[in-house]
Amino acid sequence: MGVTGWAPTRLCRLACLVGIFLLLLLLCFSSLRLQLPSSTCIWGVRPCRWIGGVPPSKEDAERKPPPSASPPSAATGAALLPQTPSKPQDLGEGFQVGRLQRAFADSLTPSGQILIREYLSGWKELVKFMDSLGAAFGLISGETRTKMAILQENQRGPHGAHYRTVQSMVRFELARGLVGFQSLPAGRPPSGCRTFLRLHRALKWLELFLLKLGTSPEDADPSRMCADAYQEALAPYHSWWVRQAAALAFLAMPSQRELYRILNAGGGDEDKGLRRLLDTVHSIAHVYNATQELYAAHGMLALP
Ligand SMILES: *[C@@H]1O[C@H](CO)[C@@H](O)[C@H](O)[C@H]1NC(C)=O
Repeated sequence: MGVTGWAPTRLCRLACLVGIFLLLLLLCFSSLRLQLPSSTCIWGVRPCRWIGGVPPSKEDAERKPPPSASPPSAATGAALLPQTPSKPQDLGEGFQVGRLQRAFADSLTPSGQILIREYLSGWKELVKFMDSLGAAFGLISGETRTKMAILQENQRGPHGAHYRTVQSMVRFELARGLVGFQSLPAGRPPSGCRTFLRLHRALKWLELFLLKLGTSPEDADPSRMCADAYQEALAPYHSWWVRQAAALAFLAMPSQRELYRILNAGGGDEDKGLRRLLDTVHSIAHVYNATQELYAAHGMLALP
């Protein structure tokens, strides 16, 4: 028996791996839902039940008056379920890399202020992009939507004026003692600063992934790139379970050709598409760097 005998079994091994990961994923979901509702959520330690307490989308929420100190509707078991993307018609539809680029370019004022509304518009495009990466990304994009909803809620709330820029949000929440440096304040929704930090970390992951996509040879493997970017940017903040679930999601990614097609939506030739992709990465990196600096200056890079 030579080592060469292993080559045809690669597929088999992959299938086994997928099976094991599926099992882990199942375990992960059931433990998220049934056993660890108050200790684990995908971006870190936070009760998942807040997911049930925030409006699912901007449009929905705009129709309602902002709920005051919205008590989580834990009466139904559904409130404990991780939020899944509720709009399948969003799958990659309407994603435009140009819009993504503009939103992040507009997020940073010449004086270095980071505008939260524009930042969230950028994330809206990124969520569409994630949804086009496969059903397994649903958990991540659902979690992202939740974070966005919390910040939109803050913007519409009585202190909305303080939530126009990240700088003013940080000033306001620090002055009011709303930022829990040691632990999350019980009985209150997570602070804007803490919520924004979760998006900020995830942004680095997507920045790195898009950069790799735009600078790798034609036949590179997107699953590998996405996993590497995740490893570098996000994995250190995630529990073992979430890392396994993420690893599974990355296995089932579209091909690079398909990703180029998604990223090129809006037309133009390939070179132009690639340039636009790298411009986008640049705009995202600017905003990321400005946020990173601000958070570092306030010692807020490790908010629980
Ligand atoms: C962001 O910061 C990194 C690391 O400090 C640096 O290498 C990169 O050039 C910066 N990017 C932009 C667009 O400012």
